[in-house]
Amino acid sequence: MALASSHFDLGVLFITPEVYPLIKTGGLGDVSAALPAALRELNVDARLLIPGYPQVLRELEYKHTVAEFTALAQFPSSTLLSATLPSGASGDIPVFVIDCPALYQREGSPYVDAAGHNWPDNALRFGLLSKIGAVLASDASPLAWRPHIAHCNDWQSGLTPAYLHFHRGDRAASLMTIHNLAFQGVFPSDTVTQLGLPAACLDENGAEYYGGMSFLKAGLYYSDHIATVSPTYAREIQMAPLGFGMQGLLAERRKHISGIVNGIDTTEWDPATDPDLAGNYTAGNLAAKAANKQALQQVLELAVDPDIPLFGAVSRLTYQKGYDLLLQVAPQLSEMPAQLAVLGTGDAALAQELATLAQNNPGKIAVRIGFDEKLSHLIEAGADSFLMPSRFEPCGLNQMYSQRYGTPPLVHATGGLIDTVVDCTPATLADGTASGFLFHDMTPENFLSAIRRVTLAYHDKTAWRRLMKNGMANDFSWRSSATAYRNVYLSLRRPDPR
Ligand code: ADP
Ligand code: GLC
Repeated sequence: MALASSHFDLGVLFITPEVYPLIKTGGLGDVSAALPAALRELNVDARLLIPGYPQVLRELEYKHTVAEFTALAQFPSSTLLSATLPSGASGDIPVFVIDCPALYQREGSPYVDAAGHNWPDNALRFGLLSKIGAVLASDASPLAWRPHIAHCNDWQSGLTPAYLHFHRGDRAASLMTIHNLAFQGVFPSDTVTQLGLPAACLDENGAEYYGGMSFLKAGLYYSDHIATVSPTYAREIQMAPLGFGMQGLLAERRKHISGIVNGIDTTEWDPATDPDLAGNYTAGNLAAKAANKQALQQVLELAVDPDIPLFGAVSRLTYQKGYDLLLQVAPQLSEMPAQLAVLGTGDAALAQELATLAQNNPGKIAVRIGFDEKLSHLIEAGADSFLMPSRFEPCGLNQMYSQRYGTPPLVHATGGLIDTVVDCTPATLADGTASGFLFHDMTPENFLSAIRRVTLAYHDKTAWRRLMKNGMANDFSWRSSATAYRNVYLSLRRPDPR
């Protein structure tokens, strides 16, 4: 990778509620680190804006204060810090951090308390993120640096386009990326005025949503352009059921929607160098793949057996991810000569059912409840095949990590999974494109027959090796998607801010 040039021709403020490795609950954290890094390689001066959660303040070194905000609507006072996020070969990414102890100084998840309930002041927490995003992207900014584009991500920054729309003065263009339409940031209607937006914003043509207000809807309505994280999902969300109530608005704005598939961080996720593996390997030398399988079996107390197909899964445990389907096929799966390793956290009932499943199948099914970055890498490397029975999946990253790790994924045919996995058939094996397995209707029978298809293919050593190598050869790096984002920015760019 070339070093980022110092000659930037576009400025982008990337507003996000999470960024790896500071704070991550899912794929948005990965994307928020990797996309800005890739953009900087393309002469885009991408800078991050994130809330100052304790993890962020602890991890970031050499922070200095660049602005104070004392009179923003009903928000508590806050300080804007500037720091840099180390980012491998592409150099550091500048990051602005909102230090507001009243809103962010609490341990745990950025969105929910220890019992899994939304933080009661989430409207203020992410209203402030949105508001400061808009200030920095307009002529009200106290900073010398001004972006051409405010790039918002999910509902947590959904009000930025609304603040910018109602700003009287010079402002950046706004782009709203939907990572997941199921999370909409819905609050009581008076939130609009509490957060300093005009009452006019609370309109059907605006932020109003079934009698309340929605951060995401505001972002979708007021943004200059919308992006989402795969071309298939861009189409799916213009209809029920995956439009989750926003399909009308999205269909109306269809000419202003781009589906840009996510890439992956090929430095962070590289079996040739990954420090979390028991042994490193490449497509040309797969020998250590077996050592990872053995290590995974040992760590998870599965029977050590090099020849039994081992399925892996790493996920948030939610309705979206279809783990209820996995539980439905578990009785048959446990009868098969196969093993299963699951890592996940989220829904307590699902976690409990998975834990019971593991208890009843010692040596065959292992479940770890929690968030464990290292174990997630070992599962990608040690499993033979990776399961993603997602009910819907805007993009999905693990199916790309698995391909790069020589672990062909088995996925439900939805969203970004359709765009990134090629089903294994005699034809796709022959033309060298097969990279995994897809199943169409979301039924236990279909899922089970796909699992059987994987185990059959696994025992055909020549076919399996070809499948592994096809996936490992796929280019999932960010370069082409970052170029697509750059082109969207260029099409939105307004006259220079200064
Ligand atoms: P989503 O964003 O919907 O959760 P993605 O596939 O885009 O799905 O990204 C999920 C990311 O979060 C991946 O990097 C995955 O490895 C990681 N992840 C999810 N759950 C866990 C967990 N329990 N432990 C470690 N990593 C996890
Ligand atoms: C969301 C989606 C996932 C996507 C990720 C990053 O959380 O559920 O499919 O890969 O965001 O865009």
